[in-house]
Amino acid sequence: MNHLPYHFYDAQREIRFDRFDLPAPWINYLSNGRMHAFVSQAGGGMSWWLSPMMFRLTRYRFYNMPIDSPGFYVYLRMADGTVWSPTFRPCETLVDFREASHAPGFSTFTAKKNGLCATLKLFMAQDYDTLVWELKLTNESGEEISCDVFAYVELSQFLAREENILGYYLKWNTRAVFDEDLQSITYAYTAWMHPRKDESPLVYFGSDAKIDSFCCNRDVFCGNYRDERNPVEVQNGRLSDTNLQGGEPCGALHTSVSLQAGAEQQLHFFLGVTEGALSDYEKAAAGAMETLTALRKDGAAERQFAKLQSWWKEHLAVYQCDLPDADAQRMINTWNPLQSVQTARYSRSISSDASGVRGIGFRDTAQDMLAQAYRKPEWATEMLWYLASQQLEDGHAVHTAWPEEKRPPQDITRSDDHIWMVYLAYAIAAETGDMRFLDKEIPFLGTDLVTPVGSATLWEHLLRGVDFTEKHLGEHKLPLILFSDWNDHLGPFGRKGKGESIMVSQQHIAALRQLAELAEARGESADQFRTFIENQEKALEQIAWDGEWFLRGLDDEAKPIGTHTQNHARIWLNAQSWMVIADACRDHQLEAMDSAARELDTGMGLLLNTPGYPGWPSKEAAMVNGLPAGYSENGGVFCQANCWAIMAEALLGRGNRAWKYYKQIMPNEVIQRVGVERYHAEAYAYCSTMLGKDNEKFGWGCVSQVTGTAAWMDVVATQYLLGIRPTLRGLLIDPSIPAHWEGFTVERSYRGCRLTIRVENPEHVQHGIKEIRVEGIKVSLENGPLLTESVLSGRSKARIHVTMGF
Ligand code: GLC
Repeated sequence: MNHLPYHFYDAQREIRFDRFDLPAPWINYLSNGRMHAFVSQAGGGMSWWLSPMMFRLTRYRFYNMPIDSPGFYVYLRMADGTVWSPTFRPCETLVDFREASHAPGFSTFTAKKNGLCATLKLFMAQDYDTLVWELKLTNESGEEISCDVFAYVELSQFLAREENILGYYLKWNTRAVFDEDLQSITYAYTAWMHPRKDESPLVYFGSDAKIDSFCCNRDVFCGNYRDERNPVEVQNGRLSDTNLQGGEPCGALHTSVSLQAGAEQQLHFFLGVTEGALSDYEKAAAGAMETLTALRKDGAAERQFAKLQSWWKEHLAVYQCDLPDADAQRMINTWNPLQSVQTARYSRSISSDASGVRGIGFRDTAQDMLAQAYRKPEWATEMLWYLASQQLEDGHAVHTAWPEEKRPPQDITRSDDHIWMVYLAYAIAAETGDMRFLDKEIPFLGTDLVTPVGSATLWEHLLRGVDFTEKHLGEHKLPLILFSDWNDHLGPFGRKGKGESIMVSQQHIAALRQLAELAEARGESADQFRTFIENQEKALEQIAWDGEWFLRGLDDEAKPIGTHTQNHARIWLNAQSWMVIADACRDHQLEAMDSAARELDTGMGLLLNTPGYPGWPSKEAAMVNGLPAGYSENGGVFCQANCWAIMAEALLGRGNRAWKYYKQIMPNEVIQRVGVERYHAEAYAYCSTMLGKDNEKFGWGCVSQVTGTAAWMDVVATQYLLGIRPTLRGLLIDPSIPAHWEGFTVERSYRGCRLTIRVENPEHVQHGIKEIRVEGIKVSLENGPLLTESVLSGRSKARIHVTMGF
């Protein structure tokens, strides 16, 4: 194996890079929940406020070359004219030492050249919507060093889509000037057509250092036929003090520094926004002044950094584990929950791959929030209430929404969107034990997709969803596919409106089981849910079994989808794993999961289906919208679907296999096998899919960061593999682990009690609990291995000893 360009430092929750020209940007998100940015290991990146589609502050060249640019750039120009940066980009100058690191909420870049050490730390202030650039310069040589420091960002026209299409007109609505009072560049995008023009912010780019010169015009800064890699004004050693009214704006600031031998100097740049530049300029400018004044005070930036760190510390502390497997422990304790926060914030919208215009997916967000239900149930609840407001009166939900952009949602009826709300509601109730959030009154969305109509409790919203599914059953009593189910590309099998989905049936059953529990806890009857479950179970018993595995559904002609006689997509993973999750067709579950292992496990992830349809120009390519074989839903390793297979194996108590599946698609493990060049994407964040074995680039990770894999892997690892799972009745202790493990420890907060759970595995089993002791006292296992509220009652901390065995 070649030398890897990164190394993890687990105690610091850091990944450090010592090579920077990776096959793709490996990014880190910086955010305070309102203003956001991402930055790569090379210093490329972009920033936005509230929405990357509405208020994109700085540019990033998606899809185009040079990749990963521009970014947050600091240029150091030495007395001899040499120019270099603490980040690899933009200059790529050879330096004596270079390192970069990502950690939750901040990134750090260090480089040294000829005795000068420069460290740039980027993070988002928590109390101000400001990206802080902390630059530390240390003279490690024996002589005085003078240099010119330039900080640079390319500004954007806020409306990302419009800029792409009409930027050549709209660029005349840009104004960037150096404001003497603020000692800062300010920038406004003045297009009156902006749908939220009243909020449209004033951007500022200032510093706590004395500004010697500035430039607000990108093209002047760079010079003709140049770019940010060799800007002519940096080469000149001074900026031209150019303002801009119309054109391509930028923020470039210059300060000169001189350091005695051994001396150190710290300075900051602040890229931020205040609201309302167009509605009340004076007020916005005063806001900028207030923030800049506050941040320029001694120690102010450090205090913001400390606040950021405590946010993450608290968030991660909710669940921490100690395992005999360093890779898994690192993922579970740090990187997976970190990615879960990103998907909760950004859905599938923005990364170095995703260009930030997609809004939020209904089903996507409902799933993403599952990972917040156990860490930040209030956040998950807010989002669930919002999602319910995007459900129509007939019970189905829109597919994509733009809450921040205030655009009407997109409504192409899928068979599954509304169902995902139930799992989120259950997860919140199971975590907190408090069900009052179900009584919240929420309007439905009118058919014009704009006007709210009526009002009903969240509980009623969930029941409407059940109603919708029950009213859209096909000839064989299974739910219709409609436009598609979870598999976006399943649609072609049901275009005539008759195709039926086995996965939706399984999801429906799983949801009904949770609703039945919730109903009973509310003191209501669950009879109707039970009837629906029985009906679906009957339909599945009659239709689903193919002999060795379960079918995926029936097409418009009632022909089976995913059967052994087909040449392509003969077997589908979700139909096997979801049968276990739904707890239906019990007699065949084990065999189905064994068939999945035999037919779909590549050793580096399970394929979503196999064999893939041949790509275009074959006729069959139409069945998968022309996707090439081995990609995504056409024979790819769909990582999110792997989570459900892991969950199913864990539920079956087959810990060895569950962990094999879990470990084999962990990015760091895949990279150990196929290398960084092949895998491409981040070693610390999941991808949406990896190319499957029908593709010559098997193992290539596609669409990283923004994927439902984040939340699901987080939930599956913490609640199904380690098995510490909230239920309505209490905290279930139900691990499925590799038999060779001696044991493990989890620290977790649950309903106000801090638990230290030590699990021992003296008999080397994969599953099964023999004994549980709370503070030394044996707990009855009569109703299962549960820590009920009454067992924990009154305690703020408890030590739990669990013994696995037969
Ligand atoms: C993408 C979509 C998700 C869909 C999945 C499978 O991840 O964001 O909504 O379910 O693909 O089609």
